Amino acid sequence: MTAEEKLKKTHEYIASRLDGAPEIAIILGSGLGAFSSRVQDQTYLPYSEIPDFPVSTVSGHEGRFVFGRIGSHQVVVMQGRVHYYEGYAMEDVVLPVRLMKLMGAQTLILTNAAGGVNSEFSPGDLMVITDQITSFVPSPLRGPNFDSLGTRFPDMTEVYDKKLVQLLDNIGYKYNITLRHGTYLQTTGPNYETPAEIRMFAKLGADAVGMSTAVEAMAAHHAGMRVCGVSCITNMASGIADRPLNHLEVKDTANKVAREFETLIENFVRELP
Ligand code: HPA
Repeated sequence: MTAEEKLKKTHEYIASRLDGAPEIAIILGSGLGAFSSRVQDQTYLPYSEIPDFPVSTVSGHEGRFVFGRIGSHQVVVMQGRVHYYEGYAMEDVVLPVRLMKLMGAQTLILTNAAGGVNSEFSPGDLMVITDQITSFVPSPLRGPNFDSLGTRFPDMTEVYDKKLVQLLDNIGYKYNITLRHGTYLQTTGPNYETPAEIRMFAKLGADAVGMSTAVEAMAAHHAGMRVCGVSCITNMASGIADRPLNHLEVKDTANKVAREFETLIENFVRELP
């Protein structure tokens, strides 16, 4: 089965289970899954029930779609995502994003836990993603182009929609939530970085580093979605932090700022045009 056939098949299955079309898609990162409690009139669809759908194996990731409403908007929320480091092909990693576009979502909100590369950041900071570096991971657009979704050679000048960045800033201001801005760099993972790698990433212009998001943003942008992203800086990256990193710390910090994060995203969705 080609990647495009797989997408079509999963979409046919979802369409048979779904009534109505979500307008906004949200992907929740490590430790941020509790956001789904902000969704009204919830229904669930576990990934494991969807034929050929990639299922996450990472602790801190639930593995289901939550459908419902926030304010006047119909939303689909991914509680848990799949990562390249789990062994999936990049086309499978971005299948869920393409699927949500086919469901009807025109806007994608990406969230993640990330390491702070910019030395002015602190653990617990929220960073609005303004640009990204994907040069260290394979392109999710490699292989036959999905002509029905987008063009072969897509422009990447503005992956993260400037109007959405502005709206996030406005919501942050209104609710007294300090927001950083920065460039997100994606690695393959699953290992954290060495101090030398982090020094290199800083020189390249990265402010935060993580193992997801950028390829999803690229696939969504290719498919013509409006994209925005928020990183929760759960730890300072290797060599900046004075101790070894671990996944527990990542989940812990994400849980600590969860309320702020939820307020930001919920009110952002409510005010989306
Ligand atoms: N590096 C990569 N990914 C991460 C980190 C990090 O320091 N923290 C959370 N996700």
